[in-house]
Amino acid sequence: MASIKLLLDKAHVPGILNYDTYRKEGGYRSVEKALGNLTPDEVTEEVKKSGLRGRGGAGFPTDMKWSFLAKPEGVPRYLVVNADESEPGTFKDRYLMEFIPHLLIEGMITSSYALGANASYIYIRGEYAWIVDILEKAIAEAKQNGWLGKNIMGKGYDLEIYVQRGAGAYICGEETALLESLEGKRGNPRIKPPFPAVKGLWGCPTVVNNVETIAAVVPIINMGGEEYAKIGIGRSTGTKLISACGNINKPGVYEIDMTISVEEFIYSDEYCGGIPKGKKLKACIPGGSSVPIVPANLLFKTAKGETRYMNYESLSDGGFESGTMMGSGGFIVLDEDQCVVRHTMTLAHFYNHESCGQCSPCREGTGWMYKILKNLEYGKGKMSDIDLLWDIQRRIEGNTICPLGDAAAWPVAAAIRHFRDEFEWHVTHPEEALVRNFGIAHYADELVH
Ligand SMILES: Cc1cc2nc3c(=O)[nH]c(=O)nc-3n(C[C@H](O)[C@H](O)[C@H](O)COP(=O)(O)O)c2cc1C
Repeated sequence: MASIKLLLDKAHVPGILNYDTYRKEGGYRSVEKALGNLTPDEVTEEVKKSGLRGRGGAGFPTDMKWSFLAKPEGVPRYLVVNADESEPGTFKDRYLMEFIPHLLIEGMITSSYALGANASYIYIRGEYAWIVDILEKAIAEAKQNGWLGKNIMGKGYDLEIYVQRGAGAYICGEETALLESLEGKRGNPRIKPPFPAVKGLWGCPTVVNNVETIAAVVPIINMGGEEYAKIGIGRSTGTKLISACGNINKPGVYEIDMTISVEEFIYSDEYCGGIPKGKKLKACIPGGSSVPIVPANLLFKTAKGETRYMNYESLSDGGFESGTMMGSGGFIVLDEDQCVVRHTMTLAHFYNHESCGQCSPCREGTGWMYKILKNLEYGKGKMSDIDLLWDIQRRIEGNTICPLGDAAAWPVAAAIRHFRDEFEWHVTHPEEALVRNFGIAHYADELVH
């Protein structure tokens, strides 16, 4: 099937970082169409028809989120673009902002108009320092050319866009922690309700959307929501950016039509190009580090024996027993040589480090899980540790203010569910496991980070 590109189609046009080239290639047409011919509600209606779902991870319908925005008289509203992108395996927003920044700015203008926001923010991961310069240049060019500032297109609509850098905390990708951080405070998630749509940035109604979600508003307005909805399948409409990494021949960012199968995505030369050295596939984490790992035998076919496709419904078919999630599209492939225990330990270390510490199940539980996994990995584990790990992850899930707790629990649960024998092998063969993973036969403290 010919691939359809709606977001990255112009990303490699020489000079596309510059306004003039972007404009020549049809840039800012969605703003002309929206401000020229559509009311704000009509823009939201197009987004509704498109079936767009948030690309930040949860897949929440974008029009619905927009429709929840409170609109009290005389109170400012904000659009905040979530460019924190700190989930291991996810690097698609970086690609979009780095190679075609005007697409995000264009999407922000059209979306801010729909929401009635006169100030909008890009909250960007601190490590993406060079992309801040790229975005600020694009914003300045958009302003010079009349797409930002006062009375845009003579329509009486004003908008400014600001870029704010984070300081390297994964938790600041959680939307309410992000808002705290944007207000200059420590990035601790807020208790919800109230949701940001009612009480968000500086207590005002706010929509927080992912970079890719807002960029997708551009093709939606240009082609019309109904046409956009014809691409993809079921409730997985349009295209999706996937950042692919791990044991594949062609790591990178791909824009996919969500009708392709997982097998085609991994083995086709158009995408990942297969596994290096002809090794066997062991497992895959298709949606960023938080989503459940799936063993090879459940990856291409669902538990019902149906082909598994790269879309929200198909990837989650079977629930967590046999399925996983589309998440943020951070597609991590593990070949037959990879150790699931080691991999799970690495992730547990990450979530323990990134827990904000507000909720005790997450603050304490992530640390316990990391310590137990470290013991198992370094040949110090007991059989009972596996059940203990299971018990801890179960007590974290659903018991925290924000979903970082779930994000820490799910990888551990899925690893035990599908690879229990490998955990047991670490207990029964500690020295072999050390030799396999580290090339040493005995535990040494300095190995443990
Ligand atoms: C710990 C944590 C980190 C998150 N990081 C991101 C992120 O980097 N980018 C993002 O768009 N959403 C992230 N999210 C999800 C956001 O809270 C929010 O749902 C999302 O920005 C909404 O955008 P969307 O509706 O366009 O998907 C994170 C959530 C959690 C719990």
